Amino acid sequence: MRCWSFFAAAAVLTMAGAAQAQDVKIGLILPMTGQQQSTGRQEAAAAKLYMAQHGDTVAGKKIELIIKDDQSVPDNAKRLAQELIVNEKVNFLGAGLTPSAMSMAPIATEGKVATVVMVSGTSVVTDRSPYYVRTSFTLGQQSGIIADWAIKNGSKKAVSVLSDWAPGAEAGKVFEANFIKGGGQVLDTLKVPLANPDFSPFLQRARDLQPDTLFVFVPAGQAGTFARQFSERGLDKSGIKLIGPGDIVDDDDLPTTGDALLGVVTAGMYSAAHPSQLNKDYVAAYKKASGHRANFISVGGYDGMHLIYSALEQTKGNTDADAVVGVMKGMKWESPRGTISIDPRTRDIVQNVYIRKVQKVNGEPWAIEFETFPAVKDPLKEAAAK
Ligand code: PHB
Repeated sequence: MRCWSFFAAAAVLTMAGAAQAQDVKIGLILPMTGQQQSTGRQEAAAAKLYMAQHGDTVAGKKIELIIKDDQSVPDNAKRLAQELIVNEKVNFLGAGLTPSAMSMAPIATEGKVATVVMVSGTSVVTDRSPYYVRTSFTLGQQSGIIADWAIKNGSKKAVSVLSDWAPGAEAGKVFEANFIKGGGQVLDTLKVPLANPDFSPFLQRARDLQPDTLFVFVPAGQAGTFARQFSERGLDKSGIKLIGPGDIVDDDDLPTTGDALLGVVTAGMYSAAHPSQLNKDYVAAYKKASGHRANFISVGGYDGMHLIYSALEQTKGNTDADAVVGVMKGMKWESPRGTISIDPRTRDIVQNVYIRKVQKVNGEPWAIEFETFPAVKDPLKEAAAK
């Protein structure tokens, strides 16, 4: 209820400032500091790259990008969303990590601001506001496909090692449901704290259970630490197959993982090695602009900006949230990751999921795609609709 009165009072201020609001303002709320800061850095770099490549004027309106640091604290994200709407009068919001995206949702709804979910991979997030549209991914999209792949390729006994927060729970839930449905057995589900994780005791416990397959989800920013501890424990030479959604072979970390992840098979929506010309150009431009290899987090920000630019072109600069979300529904385009679209029913992303194996090319590990599942929807939303 606090939120209602907050916006009622703020409406007076908003109307007073409306006359000068010729620009389109986009406010991204990202973890720019704190332990998930690499995610904020990747998103911000990609959004800025998109603007550098496509200009800062759309449908005659000048675009202004504002980036706010929520330090991955959900209450900060909520407060920043209020401030961006009331003080900055933003026309669009960009949401980052799942807990922050969840806490901002009522603010986006009440403030009536179209919001692009650029990081979060948890299914339920886009249900939290009619103005939420996702350009990132869901963990379910990838985890179900890798479970089916593992069963098909002889896996029978798995242990899950999951980062202990909503995306990890979802990755585990979808993986385990598909793995068991395929006739496999899940020996245990081990949950690793999100903050400052020490994977070693969990990897030891997993190894002691003698699975043939280890399913692992760690979020962006943790693949490097995970890879180091995985090989320190000798698990890379244990004969146990390591699989997961794409996050465990994050391109931001892969260049520094040596041989630790060679041969690892994942189901992911983006690899910097995706062999399209558009992606080659993207990877080169991102590297030039940021000094890093483009990763699966970055494309959520790059495509998020594309979604906003294209919507503005279609609405001829009208930023009314219903109008904007209306044209975003069903939009389809070529991304560095392949063809993607927005499901008009759920406002969630529909995208290819690729099976990839980590291999060394020119001295560095890359996730090389070898099988494609086209136009994959979020399986949890599809199951709920049945
Ligand atoms: C999320 O916020 O849902 C999230 C972040 C990073 C990941 C996966 C999921 O790698």
